Amino acid sequence: MEILRSIPEMKAWSRQVRQAGRTLGFVPTMGALHDGHLSLVKRSRADCDRTVVSIFVNPKQFGPGEDLDTYPANWDADRNLLEPLGVDAVFLPTRGDMYPHGFQTTVTVEDLTGHLCGESRPGFFEGVTTVVLKLFLIVQPDTAYFGEKDRQQLQVIRRMVEDLNVNVSVVGLPIVRDADGLAKSSRNQYLNPAQREIALSLSRALEQARQRIEAGETDAARLRREIEEKFALHAETRIDYVSVCNADTFEELDVIQDNVLVALAVFVGKARLIDNCLIERV
Ligand code: PAJ
Repeated sequence: MEILRSIPEMKAWSRQVRQAGRTLGFVPTMGALHDGHLSLVKRSRADCDRTVVSIFVNPKQFGPGEDLDTYPANWDADRNLLEPLGVDAVFLPTRGDMYPHGFQTTVTVEDLTGHLCGESRPGFFEGVTTVVLKLFLIVQPDTAYFGEKDRQQLQVIRRMVEDLNVNVSVVGLPIVRDADGLAKSSRNQYLNPAQREIALSLSRALEQARQRIEAGETDAARLRREIEEKFALHAETRIDYVSVCNADTFEELDVIQDNVLVALAVFVGKARLIDNCLIERV
């Protein structure tokens, strides 16, 4: 497994892969890897001749007061997870190389980012799209893999790729969960055992919402209120958003119809956790 720490090294490696006529798969991450990330890596390995994983905790997607400085990092553990999967290269750029003095360009996807995480974390998606486009231009993959755990991020990236004619196919893959339903997340490391138990309320609330919708519930406001009431029971939780929205535009619904996304962002202690569930009505 090649460890590439500079942008020129990464570009040269990728050029060689392409010149040899090989396909290149890419999995961008912020490290603290878990089975969710590894599912993307495995899919890339299955689809493509070569696979690159990047690990870069991107300062531009963290707001003031967020967890940039405490975001979990463990390179040795990450390396030990990636190596046995047959990853060909890991790209570990520095902040200084990604954002040198004088850096001043931002990529903005307009409407899709006005909801959910974009609304509650101003500047977050600009940070994501800016870094992902930079990574795409440096790595030059054929295909890039993202998780539906961050469904809005996935759609924002798809939009950017289409709008800017970026030559990368974007593949979205299902949410990987612990056996009890908790969506895998690097931020789960912040939870103590009692908080982890409370965190299960997210996936449970989504499962109940799915059942209610499948049983014919059409009142989105009532569903939102029911979910909010569940979290009100726990002193250690603070709701960031509870959304019952159109799965394509993320606009809040009054009447539940067609493809509905139920999406949650909830603080449990200091961990901001997100989860979502897409319900396709036929
Ligand atoms: P990070 O949170 O490290 O996630 C990297 C990728 O793993 C994302 O595509 C995310 O959706 C996916 N992922 C995380 N948890 C998952 C789970 N439980 N199941 C399936 N996939 C999961 O998302 C980012 O990093 C950053 O915003 C990034 C795209 C790297 C840009 O900085």
